[in-house]
Amino acid sequence: EMAAEPVNVNEFQELARLTLPKMYYDFYSGGAEDQQTLKENVEAFSRITFRPRVLVDVSRIDTSTSILSYNISAPIIIAPTAIHQMAHPEGEVATARAAAACNTIMVLSYSSSCTIEEVAASCHAIRFYQLYVYKRRDITCTLVNRAERNGFKAIVLTADTPRLGRREKDIKNKMIVPPLKNLEGLLTAKVVSDAGSNLEAFANETMDASLCWEDIGWLRSITNLPILIKGILTREDAKKAVQAGAAGIIVSNHGARQLDYSPATISALEEVVNAVEGKIPVLMDGGVRRGTDVFKALALGAKAVLVGRPVIYGLAAKGEHGVRQVIEMLKDEFELAMALSGCPSLKHITRNHVRTERDRLH
Ligand code: FNR
Repeated sequence: EMAAEPVNVNEFQELARLTLPKMYYDFYSGGAEDQQTLKENVEAFSRITFRPRVLVDVSRIDTSTSILSYNISAPIIIAPTAIHQMAHPEGEVATARAAAACNTIMVLSYSSSCTIEEVAASCHAIRFYQLYVYKRRDITCTLVNRAERNGFKAIVLTADTPRLGRREKDIKNKMIVPPLKNLEGLLTAKVVSDAGSNLEAFANETMDASLCWEDIGWLRSITNLPILIKGILTREDAKKAVQAGAAGIIVSNHGARQLDYSPATISALEEVVNAVEGKIPVLMDGGVRRGTDVFKALALGAKAVLVGRPVIYGLAAKGEHGVRQVIEMLKDEFELAMALSGCPSLKHITRNHVRTERDRLH
């Protein structure tokens, strides 16, 4: 019997579960340790309610916005996630084409299965390149230069991963990931571990755990691209990111795959937004599953949200078309939330349109 057509993004997760080998599904869906933050990322959204306004002319709704001056159809962009070819044979090429079709931005993961060049050649989507800094800085330079040469428009430096978090399902499954094609010819070491996940062993072997704020200057010196810092959760680090010359911040806990008991990102967003004082755009990701979630994030000061797992589930279920459906569903739901709360465009969405738990305490 055919599975019913999904009517929301969550139903794509079930389709993906039915489609994927268990080891891969576990890899994509899982979080770190007790997975408390994984649950919280979603649940914290559900504790925020609306303060909708009525009798506003909402006969026309404009969801469009711009990020670093690139126009996009809605404030919903594709988060960097690893190894899309485990979800679908076309991998990141299919995801990038879906991004182009939806007129949005794709952030290509450092750990992609298709190369920087393949993704660049496949479509005209606006693309950002997500970076982990390598112990070997020459390799980092090479990758950044390749991204720049291939028309990527920004670097997204992921700052929350000096080491990989403990994802216990991957350890139990002895999860093996294919070698990263972008690194072909750059690396000689072959990293294998009997202890569990080879991704963990590989990451710990290669990632530079000594990377610190001073190194942002170095990164800026090797590229002309703007640098967004991903993985910020506190006002202290938000201020440091501004000082370091970041072009933007992504409030993120890495989809709850790194430090368990990190706060839900929607709960940390406002603290970061207030600390940044409008100097640079603040984006967020983690747990966005509904158009109402997108609205809540914008009301709390986000310029846009990124979506991780739902994109992978769409890709696993239906390839490029599935990714398009996921993005379009979120966009349509967001547009409806705008109409029903009295906001004809993004500039109409204010802090007063939502009520958080903290608001209720005061
Ligand atoms: C990720 N994420 C991630 N982030 C990053 O900077 N580089 C990466 O390679 C990956 N890889 C990755 C793989 C998988 C399977 C997941 C689920 C996540 C984190 C990602 O960019 C984003 O922060 C979260 O996915 C957002 O949370 P949701 O939307 O998945 O709830």
